[in-house]
Amino acid sequence: MTNGGAPTAQPLLDVQDLAVEFRTRDGVAKAVNGVSYTVAAGQTLAVLGESGSGKSVTAQAVMGILDSPPGFVTGGRILFQGRDLLTLGKEERRRIRGAKMAMIFQDALSALNPVLSVGTQLGEMFRVHTGTSRKEARAKAVELMERVGIPAARARVGDYPHQFSGGMRQRIMIAMALALEPDLIIADEPTTALDVTVQAQVMDLLAELRREYRMGLILITHDLGVVADVADTIAVMYAGRVVETAPVHQLYKAPAHPYTRGLLESVPRLGHKGRELHAIKGLPPNLTAIPPGCAFHPRCPLARDVCHTDRPPLYDVGPGRTSACHFWKETLDGAR
Ligand SMILES: Nc1ncnc2c1ncn2[C@@H]1O[C@H](COP(=O)(O)OP(=O)(O)O)[C@@H](O)[C@H]1O
Ligand code: SF4
Ligand SMILES: [Mg+2]
Repeated sequence: MTNGGAPTAQPLLDVQDLAVEFRTRDGVAKAVNGVSYTVAAGQTLAVLGESGSGKSVTAQAVMGILDSPPGFVTGGRILFQGRDLLTLGKEERRRIRGAKMAMIFQDALSALNPVLSVGTQLGEMFRVHTGTSRKEARAKAVELMERVGIPAARARVGDYPHQFSGGMRQRIMIAMALALEPDLIIADEPTTALDVTVQAQVMDLLAELRREYRMGLILITHDLGVVADVADTIAVMYAGRVVETAPVHQLYKAPAHPYTRGLLESVPRLGHKGRELHAIKGLPPNLTAIPPGCAFHPRCPLARDVCHTDRPPLYDVGPGRTSACHFWKETLDGAR
């Protein structure tokens, strides 16, 4: 990546050319085909893309929770604090997953254990990983519940997940993720199941905690609207690949990839009522038969012959900016 010759600090997470495939009876689905992205300590990376673009599978590979079989990592490196996670044994990965990285899922109800109180589940995090006493773990659970904004935490520590609202359950899952003060949190569509006002509150909480704890945060979403205010950089994924990365405001102002431009144009804007939405025509490809050349070419308004045959590399298109489009310059100039 371009950095003007200045030495760059080692990123917290550096995913390089990651490939994951699912070997199923219906064929081999190439879910991730060369994903590269980095997250710096204390920074938020938003990973954006339509459903099925490989956002979650990439995250599962990073966390070491890939459903395998049928999923297999077939290439690339996942450097976390300088170490390639793919070379580590199961036990070591489990340790890292507990203490150094944590994940928040979309559906708190199925991620939490329905038959244990939230206090017990939060407390377990401390007891298992740090060997604190039951009483101490309980006190820490209450403290964490208070920190993530659960009203009357002391009175509710014995309640079960289903006794909380969707927004409050999501806060509990955030508390679980925070318990051991990890260096990296991956939040996979953390607010998708919530209504709009609660979405904003949960997003604000995540942003605030990320600052307070100086964690790296990966925020996975299919909704451009949610990430504008909280992300530092954005990686846009299409058909299992990162097709554009940029600092968030630059990406909004002038996208360097036609797919990103299509996504931006399909976001309804306030004050533009009645304006036609330019949703991207067509559908993402079947991952067992990804089109040759640029995978986006069947849907791309700019596609030319070369796009049908040559896979575009991820070009450096500016400081901290990349685009996997043969015609990135044209796209960028056209957007300015
Ligand atoms: N457990 C699985 N078994 C088989 N294929 C899977 C599995 N999980 C994911 N895939 C494949 O990987 C693709 C990408 O999935 P995913 O990363 O979940 O997309 P998203 O960008 O919506 O998070 C899916 O469309 C599917 O083809
Ligand atoms: S490489 Fe070609 S098909 Fe792909 S996004 Fe660029 S112009 Fe469109
Ligand atoms: Mg997903």
